[in-house]
Amino acid sequence: MARIEVTVDGVRYVDEVEPRLLLVHYLRERLGKVGTPIGCDTSNCGACTVHIDGSSAKSCTVLAVQADGTEVTTVEGLVRDGELHPVQQAFHDNHALQCGFCTPGMIMASIDLLNENPEPTDEEIRHGLEGNLCRCTGYQNIVRAVRQAAGGGPAAGRSPAAEGSPAAAEVTA
Ligand code: FES
Ligand code: FES
Repeated sequence: MARIEVTVDGVRYVDEVEPRLLLVHYLRERLGKVGTPIGCDTSNCGACTVHIDGSSAKSCTVLAVQADGTEVTTVEGLVRDGELHPVQQAFHDNHALQCGFCTPGMIMASIDLLNENPEPTDEEIRHGLEGNLCRCTGYQNIVRAVRQAAGGGPAAGRSPAAEGSPAAAEVTA
């Protein structure tokens, strides 16, 4: 077992984990962060995307021990004071989802994309999200949503990790 300290959605956790435990399993099974889904076993779909220190990562490709000392943000950590993150709101406004399975990963990847490129072209949006698969929407409304979020002012595309988390409470599980 290995000891890790990780901040997830603003809460600090200190845990003992198996060295082979994947971050996505740690988030879902140990912390109950089931808003981060597992959509494949080939690291292809991107549904499990979270932010680690502000950059998107497929949490099925990262070991929990590799997240030691980092700040992880899941889709569950985006709402602030009851307000959806601008990218969440844009997905809602543009009907950018159907079954919703890909949506958490799409939103996390979109925020990272906008952090890197606040005014992307449609082509750049499609290129930036090519690691995230959607079987339902045909992507058109997802591109529209990202475009709306890009025009939504400086808050668009900023993650809580990038802004600094609220005072962390320590949780030992
Ligand atoms: S579950 Fe991680 S890429 Fe599909
Ligand atoms: S909305 Fe169903 S997979 Fe994207």
